[in-house]
Amino acid sequence: MEQAWWKEAVVYQIYPKSFLDSNGDGIGDLQGITSKLDYLKELGVDVIWLSPVYQSPNDDNGYDISDYCAILEEFGTMDDFDELLAAVHAHGMKLIMDLVVNHTSDEHAWFAESRKSKDNPYRDYYIWREGKESGPPNNWGSFFSGSAWQYDEPTGMYYLHLFSKKQPDLNWDNPNVREEVYSMMDWWCRKGIDGFRMDVISLISKRPGLPDGIVPSGAFYADCGCANGPHVHEYLQEMNRRVLSRYDLMTVGECAGVTIEEAKKYASLDGKELNMVFQFEHVGLDDDQYGKWTDRRVDLRALKRVLSSWQTELSKTAWNSLYFGNHDQPRSLSRFGNDDPKYRTVCAKMLATCLHMMQGTPYVYQGEELGMTNCPFGSIEDVRDIESRNAYREFTQKGICSEEEMMRLIRLRGRDNARTPMQWNAKEHAGFTEGTPWIMLNPNDEGFHAEAQRRDPDSVFSYYKRLIALRKKRDVIVYGSYELLEADHETLYVYTRSLGEERLLVICNFSEQKTAYTVPEAFRGGSVLIGNYKREQVPEEVCLKAYEALVIRRAG
Ligand code: GLC
Ligand code: CA
Repeated sequence: MEQAWWKEAVVYQIYPKSFLDSNGDGIGDLQGITSKLDYLKELGVDVIWLSPVYQSPNDDNGYDISDYCAILEEFGTMDDFDELLAAVHAHGMKLIMDLVVNHTSDEHAWFAESRKSKDNPYRDYYIWREGKESGPPNNWGSFFSGSAWQYDEPTGMYYLHLFSKKQPDLNWDNPNVREEVYSMMDWWCRKGIDGFRMDVISLISKRPGLPDGIVPSGAFYADCGCANGPHVHEYLQEMNRRVLSRYDLMTVGECAGVTIEEAKKYASLDGKELNMVFQFEHVGLDDDQYGKWTDRRVDLRALKRVLSSWQTELSKTAWNSLYFGNHDQPRSLSRFGNDDPKYRTVCAKMLATCLHMMQGTPYVYQGEELGMTNCPFGSIEDVRDIESRNAYREFTQKGICSEEEMMRLIRLRGRDNARTPMQWNAKEHAGFTEGTPWIMLNPNDEGFHAEAQRRDPDSVFSYYKRLIALRKKRDVIVYGSYELLEADHETLYVYTRSLGEERLLVICNFSEQKTAYTVPEAFRGGSVLIGNYKREQVPEEVCLKAYEALVIRRAG
């Protein structure tokens, strides 16, 4: 397989608002990030993905952008950004930016113009329709509750917003919109950034005629059916020709609703569109008819089935991105593992092993490398996230569940679980701020902060360091082929990686039960590459301990 730096890289995602506050206003900022590059270098990551830092009224924490070429004041200035970029490069790392172009903020200058009159030159930058029988133009729901349409007084028409009403969708069928986006991207590339993570890029091409969808039973609105729309590949290929192919970039598309077949187009190794996508199948396994608001747990066999099909189907034709968590997902340790203090450290290492030994580019979400967990939010007052707050209102008002029940579900699945501040040290607010943090800290930070873990060779942090270093040393981890073993086992995830003569056997126990496993003949007498318990020899019959992870290497 052809080698590429973005295939060999490990990416670290920073959610700037919660990373480090340098000036005591309770909000993380760019100077805070710059001051922690040594920490990221020590961890060994190659690429930093910065969640949005652009000017924004912050209805959705920066995913509602009012000026693509300005920095949000509370995060700092453009000089601070330039300094950060230069410092990242001086550390031998790369920086990729969040590109949010399915929608803008309603406070963007284009939208301010667009809403003024039906013949405004910017009218067609957004998606405007007449209402039907005094209701919205169709039955699509917003991902953040309610209708996807907002009535707008000045012209008496509705505009489409797949997210909040402060995030109107851009009309990608308008070539002027596409040109504006490309020239803005070019502006950032000329600054020297190293790539883009493209927000909900699979939704940019709307279905012609914007037809009603089917409303699932128990739901109030239909899905917009916009994922992988008719022109999405055409637009991305155009973007690639106009901008991406002119620079040495890494690109990853966030692709809600992407199938394996579609991913082969978005992330084809022929390089016509993007390098890779974030797929959502494995993070939808614990959804039910109400979507994410449920206490269902992920079934391991289903997880193995989904991840394995992505591993084998994309191999040789496209490229995977590997993630268990990000700023939209609950903490992976609480969701896929066990955050009980008794197992927290060992289980965080097991999950990391399971993910980092696969083929693809791994993403570490800030705090994951410390074993951060979901947060015990008390009441809705503690919750900042627009998605959780809107769902809370809708579900309790419509009597789908009580306030207590909804809070329980938010503690399990809400996005703020991943947005509590990074835990740096044992000081007040875990060293995140000297002021009042914008959102509560997770109270279970004792020992689970960077300062303690950097010193402790047995910490989650030290284990991540080893995992990341191994990837740099062994081509089999990057380029080797993947094969699932024991597909039906309920608690063990076992797979192999092979490249030429070199082979790895990865065994992960997803339960607290001791579990016996017979090592396949080919791996007997192999050596332990890495594991989360002390183990030197590999017997034929291993008895895996609670949440044990073990990687056995056999060469020749
Ligand atoms: C993406 C982002 C999420 C945001 C949404 C709308 O899914 O990751 O945080 O709310 O798009 O921009
Ligand atoms: Ca600050």
